[in-house]
Amino acid sequence: MWIPPTPPLCDGATFPTSILSPAGPAASSLSDATWLVIGLCCAIGIVVEGLLVWAIISGRKRANQNAPGEPVQVFGSNKVELAWTIIPTIIVIVLALVTVRVIRDVDLTEPPPGALRVQVIGHQWWWEYRYPDSGVVTANELMIPVGRPIWLEVESADVIHSWWVPRLAGKRDVIPGYPTAFWFSSDEQGTFLGQCAEYCGTMHAGMLLRVEAVSASAFDAWIGQQQATPAAPQSQLAQEGHLVFQALSCSNCHSIKGTSDGLFGPDLTHLASRKTIGSGIVQLDEATLRLWISDPQVLKPGCNMPSLNLDPKQLSALVAYLWELH
Ligand code: CUA
Repeated sequence: MWIPPTPPLCDGATFPTSILSPAGPAASSLSDATWLVIGLCCAIGIVVEGLLVWAIISGRKRANQNAPGEPVQVFGSNKVELAWTIIPTIIVIVLALVTVRVIRDVDLTEPPPGALRVQVIGHQWWWEYRYPDSGVVTANELMIPVGRPIWLEVESADVIHSWWVPRLAGKRDVIPGYPTAFWFSSDEQGTFLGQCAEYCGTMHAGMLLRVEAVSASAFDAWIGQQQATPAAPQSQLAQEGHLVFQALSCSNCHSIKGTSDGLFGPDLTHLASRKTIGSGIVQLDEATLRLWISDPQVLKPGCNMPSLNLDPKQLSALVAYLWELH
């Protein structure tokens, strides 16, 4: 039975994915250009519709007119033709210059000074994040320090995806065999949401993006915590779960530092420190973790994680083990 996902985890944001509500300089450049285009288009619309209404009213047949023959015939007007050639040309030139300036701001070829390098790898249907300078590997939730430029190096493991968190940056296609990079930064602390923006298969709509911008000190603390190898399982049940994890095919697909090194699925080293599971499909707690492991297809139909048909005891042990991975 398919359970529809909970409403998007917006954390109370009013416009969680609006490009007109930018939270950083790269997104602001795009938003400013968008407002300029909207403003110019509205001005053109008002002028054209105004002229149309004026022509309809001023050119109508009046009650006291007995309209003998045809109205006045006009054959061209140099003034009008010059006006409707020169004004649009100026508008197009202005838009072209603004566009070039925005592209120059947004599309750097080198990382900006002091940038934090992060690699994002698109998978069917989740996101892998690697912080090459600290060796941290995580999935689906990108943690960034507020105010510091992020240099996001983009690759795909399979098909074309697209990384798009509208409040932070423009859309960036994630193309297999064609690595690219771009920058953004956040001026605000908080959660920023997005969605894979290129159709990539069954669970394209279940490939959500989540960026958490935190203070520099909170970010450093997070990196320290993520670098650590998880402590040995504490409870008896978690110790059994550790054995279940190693004995079953979990360890072929998932990495847990010190336990396994599978690369096909998300790294689970600090799974319990995440807020969501299934690439943002549902909030992570012990109950959803249990539901996810018992049959991932219930929460995310079509995803590549199979149901392992665990018996209830194995399932409880595995959940207990994974839930200790903070
Ligand atoms: Cu990945 Cu759509």
